[in-house]
Amino acid sequence: MKINTVQTHPYPDQKLGTSGLRKQTCVFLKNPNYLENFVQSIFDTIKAKGKTLVLGGDGRFYNDHALQVILKMAIANEVACIRIGQNGLFSTPAISAVIRKYKTDGGIILSASHNPAGEKGDFGIKVETKNGAPSPIEISDKIFEKTKSIKSFKIADMPDIPLDKIGTKTYGKTKIMIMSSTKDYIELMQEIFDFPAIKKLFKSGFTFRYDAMNAVAGPYAKEIFEDILGAKKGSVVRGTPLPDFGGLHPEPNLHYERDLVEFMKTKDAPDMAVASDGDADRYMILGRNFFVAPDNSLAILVKYANLIKGYQSGVKGVARSMPTAPAVDRVAQKMKINVYETPTGWKYFGSLLDAGKITFCGEESFGSGSNHIREKDGIWAILYWLNILAVTGKSIQQIVTEHWKEFGRDYYLRHDFMNLPSSKAADFMDDMQNNLKSFVGKKVAGLTVKDAWDFEYTDPVTKEKVEHCGIMITLSNDSKIIYRLSNTGTVGATLRVYFHAYEEKPRTWNKKPTTVLKQSIKAAYEIAQIKKRFGRIRPNQIT
Ligand code: G1P
Ligand code: ZN
Repeated sequence: MKINTVQTHPYPDQKLGTSGLRKQTCVFLKNPNYLENFVQSIFDTIKAKGKTLVLGGDGRFYNDHALQVILKMAIANEVACIRIGQNGLFSTPAISAVIRKYKTDGGIILSASHNPAGEKGDFGIKVETKNGAPSPIEISDKIFEKTKSIKSFKIADMPDIPLDKIGTKTYGKTKIMIMSSTKDYIELMQEIFDFPAIKKLFKSGFTFRYDAMNAVAGPYAKEIFEDILGAKKGSVVRGTPLPDFGGLHPEPNLHYERDLVEFMKTKDAPDMAVASDGDADRYMILGRNFFVAPDNSLAILVKYANLIKGYQSGVKGVARSMPTAPAVDRVAQKMKINVYETPTGWKYFGSLLDAGKITFCGEESFGSGSNHIREKDGIWAILYWLNILAVTGKSIQQIVTEHWKEFGRDYYLRHDFMNLPSSKAADFMDDMQNNLKSFVGKKVAGLTVKDAWDFEYTDPVTKEKVEHCGIMITLSNDSKIIYRLSNTGTVGATLRVYFHAYEEKPRTWNKKPTTVLKQSIKAAYEIAQIKKRFGRIRPNQIT
């Protein structure tokens, strides 16, 4: 087999964001060697020669091509072994699980998570370290540095490697192991959850719908919920991964799952409906005419940990990203365990999990997880809820309202302003940072600004310091506003504005967050001068 060393020119924009390198697919298609440059920079940074890596993706357009390029480059770079999912498919949580189970040196995930796919959509590459977590900033920055000066890459000149049959073949010095995409992950879920109890629940007539949004969760969901746990055939809808996700935006939230939310209001609604995203690490839980907000969900998972087989040894602590409403903090306080407030992005949980400081973690963006892997995990969260329902015999609505009665209710909303001119958005954040203290005491929308600060974080384990993670403002009605720019977008800038309020004893349990947060939203728009700065009067998306 011939190994080619190909000359190349660096690109200046291969910086990793909240979750790896994410770009419009056309960036990969139009720019020669854009993918190869990045992959060689990963291999050089992690010193891939002689190492074992896990590889797979969510099945989106360009996965097939990228998988072959990565395999051929791995062979040329003398990577010892690549474990790859059958047909190149692996969910993000499954890759994390496989990295950990087989103690490999890390992995590469081909996904742009919940972003749409196809030639007009997005593509992305996430780098995982040997603990199965997204690469920390230090490694991401090294990869980025390499991309800026790369001169050549190595690739084997050979035909494509068939990926449809499970088995191992050696090419040069590299072993390519094609494995089941689902087996190891499912075994892990069986260790954590009481499958027989959930099976009984389905047998008793419990009805269920899983919307896999034509993305990678489909094969996992069909096998786990229909084949093993006995949910009725057809419970998993849109269960075949399609290269363009069938044109869907596979992001499980109130915006993109409007139809499912409406369906849950009809007389045909099942007892539970769920959805997951492109790479199956996010999830959404719906009961009959009832939505479980992600911050509430995290709090409830922690609260019921003592009922779950995998967490019998106790809960060490919890962590949530700073825009996530602190519902879990109240549970942690009762359990007398620590809460860590981290910047946005899963990578900040890795060190806390590795150090045994936390057992559970989560984000407002429909992600929860635990120490079973180092990524968020949508199917895990859904199984967790089913396990709670099976053991308690209660409905989703009952579980949540009981929770509110005990701990009070956190109201949360996020407004996203998308496609803003990047320079304007950056100037906005600079201005906010520079004028922070001048906001304090200011009257806005009938409220007074109590405090304003720029969130920064020092990792308690690695001591790594992260600055400018978001502007936090508290108001005289004790509500909180957070402004930050998204770091996963591919076009222009997205400003996220988060709102939070808390009531210890609300008079009714069916209040809408939009009603409770109305005044705070008005205040947030005024403080940021959204209309004047960006010419916008409403957000593109509310979740
Ligand atoms: C978004 C979410 C964040 C999540 C990330 C990756 O990042 O807000 O919670 O970890 O996607 O799924 P953002 O676009 O806000 O930088
Ligand atoms: Zn995802």
